[in-house]
Amino acid sequence: MLEKDIERILVSSDEINEITKRMGKQLSEDYKDKFPLVIGLLKGCVPFMGTLVSNMDIHLEMAFMDVSSYHGGIESSGDIKISMDLNISVKDRHVILTEDIVDTGRTLKVIIELLKYRGAKSIKVATLLDKPAGRVVELVPEYVGTIIPKEFVVGYGLDYEEKYRNLPYVGVLKPEIYNK
Ligand code: PRP
Repeated sequence: MLEKDIERILVSSDEINEITKRMGKQLSEDYKDKFPLVIGLLKGCVPFMGTLVSNMDIHLEMAFMDVSSYHGGIESSGDIKISMDLNISVKDRHVILTEDIVDTGRTLKVIIELLKYRGAKSIKVATLLDKPAGRVVELVPEYVGTIIPKEFVVGYGLDYEEKYRNLPYVGVLKPEIYNK
């Protein structure tokens, strides 16, 4: 039913499984004995963060912030809103920020600055997708699943008007869907 709106698959379910396995293993090595605080930026992080942490064989803590920048359109607005803040302190914690995508980089830039100000011991970014061609601020994620071209994609957490987040893969939406 959802598949008919997708022009082509960019990152398949199998590729996502491989990515999360590889990244989970790497994070487990890098954060062994560090009890990292894995922070998800809602809502896009949900599927990826879920799969990623289930591939991490170490003790960790999870927390969430609801941050948004797109406000329903197909381009990031640059106006970052925190509609739900963390309910725990990041002071002296090793933070892993998980994202579905890094596009302009604005969201993470703001959040990283905020968490530094709040005293996090280290902050690194784990993202499923990186779209470097979209970058408007300097931001280099430490853990990247795969690099994608400058196209509007949906699925595995990424939405168009809140829809398609539940697709089990990442795909390019047919232009007629957002040109309607
Ligand atoms: C998306 C995505 C990232 C951000 C990336 O979130 O989940 O958080 O945009 O864009 P940027 O690098 O240009 O800042 P969105 O604001 O759409 O909120 P959502 O996670 O609820 O979909």
